[in-house]
Amino acid sequence: MSTDAYKQQAAEAAVALVQPGMALGLGHGSTVQFALVSLAARLAAGELAEVVAVPASRATQAECQRLGIPLAELNEHAHLDLTIDGADEVDAQFNLIKGGGGALLREKILAQNSRRLSIIVDEGKLSERVGGRFRLPVEVLPFGWARQADFIANLGGQATLRLAAGGEPALSDQGSYLLDCDFGPIADPAALAAALEARSGILEHGLFLGLATDVFVAGAGGLRHLQPKK
Ligand code: A5P
Repeated sequence: MSTDAYKQQAAEAAVALVQPGMALGLGHGSTVQFALVSLAARLAAGELAEVVAVPASRATQAECQRLGIPLAELNEHAHLDLTIDGADEVDAQFNLIKGGGGALLREKILAQNSRRLSIIVDEGKLSERVGGRFRLPVEVLPFGWARQADFIANLGGQATLRLAAGGEPALSDQGSYLLDCDFGPIADPAALAAALEARSGILEHGLFLGLATDVFVAGAGGLRHLQPKK
C-alpha cells in the first residue's frame, strides 16, 4: 500500500469515533484531508446529525465549505469533543512535533480545548525521540525574528526561516513567520517547550506534549490504535 493509502486508513479510523451532536476540531494537512473526505461521506449518509467543526486553518475551512461540513466558532463551544489532526513526528511517549503545514498555533488551541485529540499518521512519522526525524517548527512575530533565531541557537537548535515558493518568508494564517529548528533528537521536550514559551516574540512551538489521547498509525503491519497509559 502507498503512504496515501496508510494516511487514509488512519484518517478513517479516527473519523469512526465521531458521534452525532459532537463539536469537532479539524487540523490541517494531507492526512487531515482524508479525514475531511471521510467525515463528509458520513455526514452525507445521514449518520452524523448536528455535528459541527472548528477548522485549524483557512485551507481546512475552505475544504469544509467545499465538502459541506458545517462550521462553528471555537468561541461558541466551551469545549470540543474530539479533534482530529495529523503530526510530523510521534515518539514512544506520545510527544508530537507538529507545524510542518504551518498551522501549529491554531492546532494547539484546538488540541488544548478538546476532550480528545486523535492523531492520524502513517508509520513513517514514528520515531524514538521527537526531533530525530523532523525539524521543530516555531512560529515567531516578524518583528525582530532573527533575535529569536539567536535565542533558539543558544538552546542548541539551528533555526532556518521558512520561505515561500517565491523566496519571501512564508506566512502563517496569522501573518507570522515560521522557523524550522534542527535540535536533533530532543532529550527533554518539556524543558525545551518551557524555554520557548517563556520567550517574548515566540508565538508558539510545534511540541505537543501530553495532548494526544489516541494515535492511529497505519503501515505495512496494518492499523494500530495507540493510547497513552492513564
Ligand atoms: C500542520 O501544521 C501540521 O501540524 C500537520 O498536522 C502535519 O504537518 C502533518 O501534515 P501531513 O498530514 O500533511 O503530513
